[in-house]
Amino acid sequence: MRKTLIAGNWKMNAGPTEAKVLADEMVAKWEGKEFSQEALICPPFVSLPFVVKSFRDTFFKAGAQNVYTENNGAYTGEISVSMLKELTCEYVILGHSERREYFNETDDFIAKKVRKVLNEGMKPILCVGEKFDQRQQGDQKAVVQKQLSNILSLVNESHAENFVVAYEPVWAIGTGETATPEQAQEMHQFIRSFISNKWSDEAADKVRILYGGSMKPANAEELLSQNDVDGGLIGGASLKADSFSEIMSIAEKLSKN
Ligand code: PGA
Repeated sequence: MRKTLIAGNWKMNAGPTEAKVLADEMVAKWEGKEFSQEALICPPFVSLPFVVKSFRDTFFKAGAQNVYTENNGAYTGEISVSMLKELTCEYVILGHSERREYFNETDDFIAKKVRKVLNEGMKPILCVGEKFDQRQQGDQKAVVQKQLSNILSLVNESHAENFVVAYEPVWAIGTGETATPEQAQEMHQFIRSFISNKWSDEAADKVRILYGGSMKPANAEELLSQNDVDGGLIGGASLKADSFSEIMSIAEKLSKN
């Protein structure tokens, strides 16, 4: 059984002061309550130590939004896997469409980061997804397949349990537009079958595939109910303790069905 992962991507929002307040609010909402799935928040690097501290002794986890491929050295502005591990981070988002778009990250570069993260025992959340015009042309599967292809060749299937994919149609990110549950399921199923072809059925069954793109309390239940949707990568709605907790509650309820 795959555990549902409800992951928040704060992007370039919430500096240390705001992050601490928000993380404390989230913890307070779940005080004394049980959450049987996984909850993760990925704040900006400077806020990460504060969020880690607020989450200490709770089930909430803190993760990163990016990482570099080297351990240390002359790489001004970069952060290494060992630094994240020192902060007790398990998860790191990689290949987000904003990194691809504004920082020119390529499939090759992202694949190397994913390999590094997995080899070091951390869990990458690899973001894939098509742009609006690509969907209009019916190219969404080809686009996602290309984004996944190198990585699945570079990485061994023994890492399947730690490998997380986030299907994020770019046209649905921060736009209020969401993929319909059917569109999401179709793409998630496609991703799982592609992984199964490259690796094996058994490995594909272990990989968690999150949906991202304007997930919020109002649409979370129908998206999370889909067979191949194993959680959410949530931007805007993760910046409020109320909405993030509500999505977590929906995941908890669905896990009991
Ligand atoms: P959104 O962002 O929920 O604000 O659409 C999702 C993401 O970019 O990960």
